[in-house]
Amino acid sequence: MGESKRLGILTGGGDCPGLNAAIRATAKTAIQMDYKVIGIRNGWNGLINDENKILDRKNTSGIIDRGGTILGTSRLSPFQIENGPQRICDGFEKLGLEALVVLGGEGTLSITSKLFKMGLPVVGIPKTIDNDVKETNYTIGFQTAVQIATDALDRLRSTAESHHRVMLLEVMGRHTGWIATYAGMANGADDILIPEIPLDKERIEELCRMLKVRYQRGATFSVIVVAEGTELEGKTIGRHIFDISKNEMAFRLGGIGNVLGEIIEGKTGLETRVSSLDYIQRGGTPVAYDRSLATAFGVKAVELIRNKNYGEMTALKGNRITSVLLEKVADGIKTVNLNAYRIAEIFFG
Ligand code: F6P
Repeated sequence: MGESKRLGILTGGGDCPGLNAAIRATAKTAIQMDYKVIGIRNGWNGLINDENKILDRKNTSGIIDRGGTILGTSRLSPFQIENGPQRICDGFEKLGLEALVVLGGEGTLSITSKLFKMGLPVVGIPKTIDNDVKETNYTIGFQTAVQIATDALDRLRSTAESHHRVMLLEVMGRHTGWIATYAGMANGADDILIPEIPLDKERIEELCRMLKVRYQRGATFSVIVVAEGTELEGKTIGRHIFDISKNEMAFRLGGIGNVLGEIIEGKTGLETRVSSLDYIQRGGTPVAYDRSLATAFGVKAVELIRNKNYGEMTALKGNRITSVLLEKVADGIKTVNLNAYRIAEIFFG
């Protein structure tokens, strides 16, 4: 082991655009401060199984615009495996780390908060296309997903217009409708359906009525966006699958678009088509905003570590890059800002 202090970086949970920009910023800033930086592979797995690689100026160069994560990721929780937390602490010690920077969404950050309470010196950086992490305006990856979903809606609009159809786009958003709301607002969608607003019988009738009124007034096409986690009359739409990474059965969300599309066509008699963005909205090049946010978060994370502000997460509050306690973020989600939704709603129908 060398003389310099050692800093670990790990990416956990689902990937998103901007992770590499954050890895680059954290690593390069730490290297300038004379840290040796260790990239932990495949989320918590890498600490348990001793899978890691040295991050240097060379292998963190030229990745600011690259999607995914050069470290790999996984959804493994150390709290779901035998002796998991202890094995994490052992892995941490074996590497001789002074601290660990964890890039994660709500799930990974909750795990990070628990590990901090057990004594691990950790700092979090919020990332997820879903933007549902509390205590920060935005997470890394969200703006890129919104851009991709907006582009898709724009494209759907033109073909909807040609064929005089209703076009429905299903986007991600397991518990919240951030992507749907912001992409729908940017596209001028005719309705936006999100988990925060119950899609009950009444709301479905209202939607179908609005579509018919549009056609009666001469607007011969409509565009609607729906978040995958929106419950249809209290029922989450998805399917039970065998999750090979966890070796167990799991419930995979998806399909509300198709179910709703059939209901709309049946109730209105309007020709309806459905598209789903699936993983396309989670891959590829991050937009400039996500690169900048990731860069600022990476620099802030190193500052937190230098000041020994462990147990904190980098955050954006207004225009300010700051930090919050991880425990405030754990075990909860940030739902859609309904003021934003109300603005989008003005242009429905
Ligand atoms: O965590 C973000 C997210 O994109 C959700 O919106 C989506 O439901 C989920 O990941 C799917 O993730 P995976 O298939 O990678 O487990």
